[in-house]
Amino acid sequence: MSTHLHPDNLALRNKYRVTGWFYDILDYPWERQYRKWRPSLLESVQGQVLEAGVGTGHNLASYPSDAQVTGIDLSKRMLAKAHRRAQRAACNVELVQADATQLQALSANQYDWYIATFLYCVMPDTLQPVALAEMARVLKRGGQFKLVEILYSNDPGIRRRQERMAAFVHRVYGARFDRQTLSHIRAIPNLEVTQTTFLKDDTYLLIEGRKSAGTVE
Ligand SMILES: C[S@@+](CC[C@H](N)C(=O)[O-])C[C@H]1O[C@@H](n2cnc3c(N)ncnc32)[C@H](O)[C@@H]1O
Repeated sequence: MSTHLHPDNLALRNKYRVTGWFYDILDYPWERQYRKWRPSLLESVQGQVLEAGVGTGHNLASYPSDAQVTGIDLSKRMLAKAHRRAQRAACNVELVQADATQLQALSANQYDWYIATFLYCVMPDTLQPVALAEMARVLKRGGQFKLVEILYSNDPGIRRRQERMAAFVHRVYGARFDRQTLSHIRAIPNLEVTQTTFLKDDTYLLIEGRKSAGTVE
């Protein structure tokens, strides 16, 4: 992996060096609901797949057996846990320590799919356009993406609970409820958002889209 990490990514990598020890235990109450979504989210994903921010590998069991999945993450500690899940996955999995904002090692127009669950809510707003431009570069023309994000709710009760959790969620995961991922995607000319769906309340947002088929790099 490049040694020239952006200071924010260096901080995130250091954070997950600690959080990685207990991530699966800490995240368990949320993972109980995420695990109900992951299979339907990934059942139609085929071909060459790049999963960015693969974490401890919770998605890996849900890919169809013929998918060829490359999972990248900043954190070696998170990847170490993902390796165990990769061994039990039906599909072929390669795990690499890499930064989603610096994918120079990957060729353009290589992937049929780009998947990221709970990555962009962790990624600082200033770095999101960089990671999204990399996503657009490595996707094939017509290649598709699915991103799952967590957002502030408009429901006052849910919002109050989120605000109470916000400092903890940021300290432990680096995540924020006020990221502007959808706007950043819409600002990239060769990316097209085809559908947005709330998976729960108005807080868990699935963003689906594709790289325009006529894109010229
Ligand atoms: C909240 S976890 C989500 C893990 C997994 N996607 C899931 O659904 O359980 C966020 C992950 O993104 C990784 N990450 C954050 N910024 C990254 C970047 N720039 N490149 C690659 N991985 C990154 C973190 O190391 C962490 O493992």
